[in-house]
Amino acid sequence: MEFEILTLFPEIITPYIQASIMQRAIINKIIKITLHNLRDWAVDKHHTTDDTPFGGGGGMVMKPEPIFSAVEDLQKETDPSPIVLMTPQGRQLDHTAALELSNVKRMIILCGRYEGVDERVRKHLVTHEISIGDYVLSGGELPALVLMEAITRLLPGALGDPNGAADDSFAGGLLEYPHFTRPAVFRDWGVPDILTSGNHKAVNRWRKKQAWLRTLAKRPDLVEVIQLNAVDIEVLKEIDQEGEMILPEKIKIIIRGER
Ligand SMILES: C[S@@+](CC[C@H](N)C(=O)[O-])C[C@H]1O[C@@H](n2cnc3c(N)ncnc32)[C@H](O)[C@@H]1O
Repeated sequence: MEFEILTLFPEIITPYIQASIMQRAIINKIIKITLHNLRDWAVDKHHTTDDTPFGGGGGMVMKPEPIFSAVEDLQKETDPSPIVLMTPQGRQLDHTAALELSNVKRMIILCGRYEGVDERVRKHLVTHEISIGDYVLSGGELPALVLMEAITRLLPGALGDPNGAADDSFAGGLLEYPHFTRPAVFRDWGVPDILTSGNHKAVNRWRKKQAWLRTLAKRPDLVEVIQLNAVDIEVLKEIDQEGEMILPEKIKIIIRGER
């Protein structure tokens, strides 16, 4: 998968890539990242890429000409690629959005700065608008890194553990189960006996139950859309019978076999 990044500050992006799993994915030819400085497409001798807003007010706006020229150059002699604008006004990035975007061969990511880009860029050039959350950062570089890393983790071979991404929170719909490592006792706090039992089947079942307990406690909104399999139903019946958590009505109906 290829990422073409359009930014005014490529130097912000490089160090993080070099220290992240993206670097290994680049070496293993799973991804390719090319950073482009938008200033290279500015036409005046000062390489201007922003200007004051029509209508007045503070802040600067990124000019449309360098952005259109850059994208048109990058689209020359290739099939059109999605053009993703990082913006707090876009679709909020989540596992589903990252998975969808992981299916494209190449994408152009546009990092905004200042007050953002001229509206004609958004309206006539951009194909996708992605936000990393309901807060405002000063530039699209961090959001672009977040997007690229979320996508890269989902690409086959990118993680050391081939099942790593599949076990992660959200991938199967639930939050991931808790993890413990050595020492077995730390400040009088032990580790659940089952994890040191060597019984893999029991460990997997315990993990599934813990994943359900944490998701029900922390993110009940997630459980509404999960397709339950036989193990889920067994674990949920146990949670219900032992009164460990109050289950949403929809789940109660399914596990009690009323539907
Ligand atoms: C200061 S912000 C502009 C915010 C804009 N004036 C608004 O209120 O919607 C500058 C740039 O940072 C990036 N940015 C800031 N917050 C973001 C977020 N939550 N998600 C994605 N990109 C963001 C965008 O590229 C944006 O153009």
